[in-house]
Amino acid sequence: MNHFYVTTPIYYVNAEPHIGHAYTTIVSDVLNRFHKLLGYKTFFLTGTDEHGDKIVQAAQEAGMDPKTYADRISGLFRETWPKLNIGNDYFIRTTDPKHVRVVQGILQKVRDSGDIYFSSYKGLYCIGCERFYTERELVDGKCPDHDREPVEREEANYFFRMSKYQGWLIEYIESNPDFIRPERYRNEVLSFLREPLEDLCISRPRERLNWGIPLPFDDRYVTYVWFDALINYVSAIGYPDGPLFREFWPSAHHMIAKDILKPHGIYWPTMIRAAGFPLFRSLNVHGYWKINEGKMSKSKGSVIRPLDLVPIYGLDAFRYFLLREMVFGLDANFSEEALIQRINSDLANDLGNLFSRTLAMTSKYFGGNVPPFGSQPDAMDQELMGHAREAVQTVIEEIPKLGFHKALISIWECINAANKYIDHAGPWNLAKDPAMKGRLQTVIRNALEVNRTVAVLIAPFMPSTAEKMLERLGVVKPIDELRLNEDAAWGSLVEGVPVNKGEALFPRIEVKESGKMPEKPLGRKGEMEREAISIDMFQKIDIRVGIVKQAERIPKSTKLLRLVVDIGEERQVVAGIAQHYSPEDLTGKQVVLVANLQPAKLMGVESHGMVLAAHDGNVLRIVTPEQTVAPGAKVS
Ligand code: MSP
Repeated sequence: MNHFYVTTPIYYVNAEPHIGHAYTTIVSDVLNRFHKLLGYKTFFLTGTDEHGDKIVQAAQEAGMDPKTYADRISGLFRETWPKLNIGNDYFIRTTDPKHVRVVQGILQKVRDSGDIYFSSYKGLYCIGCERFYTERELVDGKCPDHDREPVEREEANYFFRMSKYQGWLIEYIESNPDFIRPERYRNEVLSFLREPLEDLCISRPRERLNWGIPLPFDDRYVTYVWFDALINYVSAIGYPDGPLFREFWPSAHHMIAKDILKPHGIYWPTMIRAAGFPLFRSLNVHGYWKINEGKMSKSKGSVIRPLDLVPIYGLDAFRYFLLREMVFGLDANFSEEALIQRINSDLANDLGNLFSRTLAMTSKYFGGNVPPFGSQPDAMDQELMGHAREAVQTVIEEIPKLGFHKALISIWECINAANKYIDHAGPWNLAKDPAMKGRLQTVIRNALEVNRTVAVLIAPFMPSTAEKMLERLGVVKPIDELRLNEDAAWGSLVEGVPVNKGEALFPRIEVKESGKMPEKPLGRKGEMEREAISIDMFQKIDIRVGIVKQAERIPKSTKLLRLVVDIGEERQVVAGIAQHYSPEDLTGKQVVLVANLQPAKLMGVESHGMVLAAHDGNVLRIVTPEQTVAPGAKVS
């Protein structure tokens, strides 16, 4: 039996799960589900990286000891993944005793073989960061975080003889073109390896950092966090001699983003070589998600959290968007507008429409039961089958090459071809002519078949949609038991089986001119109206009283006004209230403003906040304090 083992990076517990973590984890999940669909035996690992000074610092800021803090954030990651339908088989934490033992075992082995030595190191040390800097990392000779010059400091430490493996690694990468993918990252590693490779300092004196795994041969030191973290990929599956390790390690594929290419492309293979076990199969490197073309940043408030989006837009829409929008290896941009656009066009219009019209016609013309093929296939039918075969083929070829977007494009070509097929065949006309009954049966049956093929093909990307579609098509098979060659094959629906129309798969999202959020927030079934939020969540919203200093219409817009509001500082805000207030009504008036919304551009004008208003049918009234208060007063 074929095996497939996929890993995500283990995430630092100094930040909550965001869209970047979600992407790598979802892409790994898609690969894992795809290999299951091909009949592979799979194993999927994710987890958290919990040692090192970053974590100590974050814990201090949160006023907690490192372990309590790590427990909390690790718990957040662990709870997030099932909500994104991630089917990981194991969740590793680097504080697990089993992991600690494996790290110490490997350190001892490498030390015994002579590849770890003790030496003194002299370098530039920032007292604020409590770490050494290389010349290159400094900005104008100063620590970028503390803006002061580092001091020269000498420290004795343990070093891993990484340099010894430089020649071997170059040769390995050169003779295994698929080891680091896509090619640009393989080239990046090779170009790095053109310079002499230095040995790696793998210890930290305990007086400087106590939160780590003690070196087995000198407990005055703890292990450098990367030498500890990388080993998770084998400790989790029972290195050195556990059955899972023997079974899955030879087919290990690591998924990461470009930020951690060097530790994975250089430290990890040389560590493995020194420890004397075989290399993993491939390192797969993707680009970065940017937010409105910029870097995601906590201070700018542009961190996108998956669990904020999923209740609004739906999980499968979110998964689809991530996989469709990013070309694996390149950076991509996230915006809610782009997400809404994809939902409305690809999901609601194309897929949703195909599915609902097919089922509606099955119900109308055949009492809701799968009809037989009633006539010989003609050229149009052959063409449709050709599109379906092509989509299956492209999915099989592209996913292992990380061409997720190409796989989706080809599935959507098939969906669009199927919509056209129905338009051209015109079942509504065939139904008028009793002599065309056989043809009508074939057309509807083909439409049902193409829906089933599509459902199987999207299963790795959108498991719950696939499940819903198959169930309504009368296919009774758990999603994990689907097999591409059997279940995507044309003609495998069973004649006479009842199908079930159900509600729309992806309702359209309406966008208001005054804002980018959907008209009916969070949707569809009113989940949001019912969902309780914590006081912590509410307190994240910065609501302020302000006074309107200027107000004017925005040219060409019937709904928007540009306001300048004083909330202790002046803010430009765009408000969708022009049909209810004229600019003169507003100047001097007190309003209530959400002050920490991400900036947005409306009709070309930047908006840095949102004016609160009550909506009562067609009536809109801005919210204002009951008596005048100072501009900037906080509302809570
Ligand atoms: N703990 C290390 C990894 C150790 S693996 C042995 C670490 N953790 S991290 O929390 O910083 O996660 C980095 C990873 O998160 C990236 O490699 C990528 O998988 C994901 N991403 C974080 N931000 C991202 C984007 N903005 N865009 C895409 N992915 C990003 O590094």
